[in-house]
Amino acid sequence: MTRGSLLVDHIGELVTNEGRPGDPLGIRRDAALLVEDGQVAWIGSARYAPAADRRIDAAGAAVLPGFVDSHAHLVFAGDRAAEFAARMAGEPYTGGGIRTTVGATRAASDDDLRATVGRLRAEMLRQGTTTVEIKSGYGLTVADEARSLRIAAEFTADTTFLGAHVVPAEYADRPDDYVGMVCGPMLAAAAPYARWIDVFCERGAFDADHARAILACGQAAGLGVRLHANQLGPGPGVRLGVELGAASVDHCTHLTDADVDALAGSETVATLLPGAEFSTRSPYPDARRLLDAGVTVALATDCNPGSSYTSSMPFCVALAVREMRMTPAEAVWAATAGGAAALRRTDVGRLTPGARANLIILDAPSHLHLAYRPGVPLIRQVLHNGVPR
Ligand code: NIG
Ligand code: FE
Repeated sequence: MTRGSLLVDHIGELVTNEGRPGDPLGIRRDAALLVEDGQVAWIGSARYAPAADRRIDAAGAAVLPGFVDSHAHLVFAGDRAAEFAARMAGEPYTGGGIRTTVGATRAASDDDLRATVGRLRAEMLRQGTTTVEIKSGYGLTVADEARSLRIAAEFTADTTFLGAHVVPAEYADRPDDYVGMVCGPMLAAAAPYARWIDVFCERGAFDADHARAILACGQAAGLGVRLHANQLGPGPGVRLGVELGAASVDHCTHLTDADVDALAGSETVATLLPGAEFSTRSPYPDARRLLDAGVTVALATDCNPGSSYTSSMPFCVALAVREMRMTPAEAVWAATAGGAAALRRTDVGRLTPGARANLIILDAPSHLHLAYRPGVPLIRQVLHNGVPR
């Protein structure tokens, strides 16, 4: 018995994500799980559970890997509740409100930004998210992008430089100059704090040529590629992401057959963000089409003050099942193992020996309840790196 070991016992349904044909979630019944040194050390039948220093009795509940939220914009100031209200009264979403948040973010102190990230991170943890990616993108100056990433890096290893979110107002009539600045001094200041680079490739933001140039500079600086693509309309983003070997292309709301084929023949994950369609009252992406084509699908919140101000992965799972034709098992996989694939992480999103002991004990006997009981706080307990939270 290792000192500090912890046994989670009497697990009615354990989702391991160690998939088998017909069972992508790798479900085990009447299981137990031993945690040592923050990792999963052993999994087996509750009958053969080893002794441990401490024990949590799951009392027949379902246990899942912690959610992996692979797309979130948490470094910002202010909110845009009035913009949301206007949308619900019929206004369309255009992304134009991003500049409002840029103004508020630039004016905020480091401590204010840090407090907002901390509050949202805590909110996520309470809802079962144990891994989160955090983007910059509301600073859009060298200093403001660098500090956004420096603060994000206090909370996660998966930080993403999104200096190419929109062209800020002061560069409105010279977008080429802005792209040059993003690739030059801004990238140099951001890269020490970033693992990934992202571009909002969309009409009104960055076109394919600009996106390609920025992503290539990021790759040359050692950053991995991810992309906001095909959110507001069809476009070149998804195919550009596949061409560049992006880990993930995100949104994927408006896809042609060629986009789906490109994804199906690639290692690029399609990350769907149904909170954005909910909050912008837009048509949802067709997850069924992607899954049937063999594309790896992830689900994430897109948590941000404009298009999707939710931090709740259970909400996204429920939306994906009800509105995007995913089965509950597919949605739970996409919110855990799918998110891990989108971040190219093998240590999270699964509960197998050697993985991080990031897990959720549900107040329910099965993962099905996440979609079956939408809006109900079903997260009874979370372990993060083996520590009860
Ligand atoms: O992923 N689409 C671009 N960026 C965000 C929205 C940002 C905002 O509206 O503030 C998104 O939806
Ligand atoms: Fe986003």
